[in-house]
Amino acid sequence: PRRQPARRRTTALATVPVAVAALLGAAGPAAPGGTGGSGAGDPYFPLSGNGGYHVRHYGLTLRYDTASRRLDATAELSARATERLTRFDLDLKGLTVTAVTVDHRAAAFRRDGQELVVTPRRALRAGQPFRVRVAYHGTPKPVTDPDGSADGWIPTDDGAFVAGEPQGAMTWFPVNGHPKDKASYDFTITVPRGRTAVANGILLGQRTAHGRTTFRWRETQPMAAYLATATIGRFRVERYTTRDGIQVYNAVDAREARAAAPVLKRLPAVLEWESRLFGPYPFRAAGSIVDHAPDVGYALETQTRPLYDSAPTLDTLVHESAHQWFGDSVSLTAWKDIWLNEGFATYAEWLYAEQHGGDSAQRTFDALYARPAGDGLWAYPPGDPGSGARLFGTPVYARGAMALHELRRAVGDRDFLLILRSWAAGHRGGHGTTAQFVRLAEAKSGKPLKGLFQTWLYTPGKPNSA
Ligand code: ARG
Ligand code: ZN
Repeated sequence: PRRQPARRRTTALATVPVAVAALLGAAGPAAPGGTGGSGAGDPYFPLSGNGGYHVRHYGLTLRYDTASRRLDATAELSARATERLTRFDLDLKGLTVTAVTVDHRAAAFRRDGQELVVTPRRALRAGQPFRVRVAYHGTPKPVTDPDGSADGWIPTDDGAFVAGEPQGAMTWFPVNGHPKDKASYDFTITVPRGRTAVANGILLGQRTAHGRTTFRWRETQPMAAYLATATIGRFRVERYTTRDGIQVYNAVDAREARAAAPVLKRLPAVLEWESRLFGPYPFRAAGSIVDHAPDVGYALETQTRPLYDSAPTLDTLVHESAHQWFGDSVSLTAWKDIWLNEGFATYAEWLYAEQHGGDSAQRTFDALYARPAGDGLWAYPPGDPGSGARLFGTPVYARGAMALHELRRAVGDRDFLLILRSWAAGHRGGHGTTAQFVRLAEAKSGKPLKGLFQTWLYTPGKPNSA
């Protein structure tokens, strides 16, 4: 459980008349002359992501020395300009950049806070594909989030716990760091012999030479940058293929192995159960990284391979697995829609309990609904929690799940599952918004549901009806 400091939204724009704020754009003054802008336009994280281009693929080559904690890296981005660009931004926090090329020609660059501003020799035309190569090094440090938690490259006693939600990707590679911009990834990670580097997708190969081991990983499915990992440690590795042909790779810190084993054993069954509910598992690879990172305090649904700071409970495994459908395959277009991730993954836990001899979802709902009006559960509505500090608060997880339970009661089990499945199928590998989900729910059930969602997602205070 995380502390949720009651924080009022105080932005410079708060006092600007709405029309003027709209003209300025949520990301700040629009940059004239084709510079894309320093953010993707998300008011929760105005500097995350960038405008003016889309990244199709990241090729990351990392070499990490666990003793000195130094990273030496190159990032090769295949991108496409969405407008004419005389310069563009990438997100990168800390680290030293030594060279940038655009289409193999040296490009001018400067650092401006968390932005790496690149000026290619020639302006990029709208629609033009281009390649960016960034050489960089240094000691990566995590970023502190508005809620006080840390994410990004988090050093551990034997490597690094690498989790990027919501804004930590920029602590270890130059990135268009907003979930709107999904890409495929290749990782080549070199670590001291005896350490294992685990990223997303399929392990293409590993080679040891001169006291170092290089791991090559590939994620071909579109992935939001915050779901990328390159977690390093002394891990015990287990590999197998499930009945459904999913390649499983588990990496477990020895200190967590005994507690993790009985839970990880259930992964194939959990994925099969979720596939029956939500439709086919959206990826070819799966698995878990169970690290020993006592200071982190959370797990993350890193794509294909959730990352745990210690041995997970079965509930947490079910939760992070459900995110593979809801959050990873179907991504957010704006952080305010975070309940589409956390409410859904939490409701998957409720359904799992209901179908495996635990409490019914109704019982879980009732216990929450019994909380008094002053309880933190009702502190703010989950449909637009109001700031990046509230992304991972109880209202988003629990009241978000309660909203889904209300939907289920309104449309019945059959239509409810039909809605979840068509959501996962219809937006697979892409994005979804709350408005689209509400429309889908109405279309599949034939019932008017705007009032229900208005009450449960957007109305402050404890809802009256239950
Ligand atoms: N999405 C994660 C989950 O499944 C939580 C990530 C929390 N991140 C953070 N920086 N506190 O619940
Ligand atoms: Zn979650």
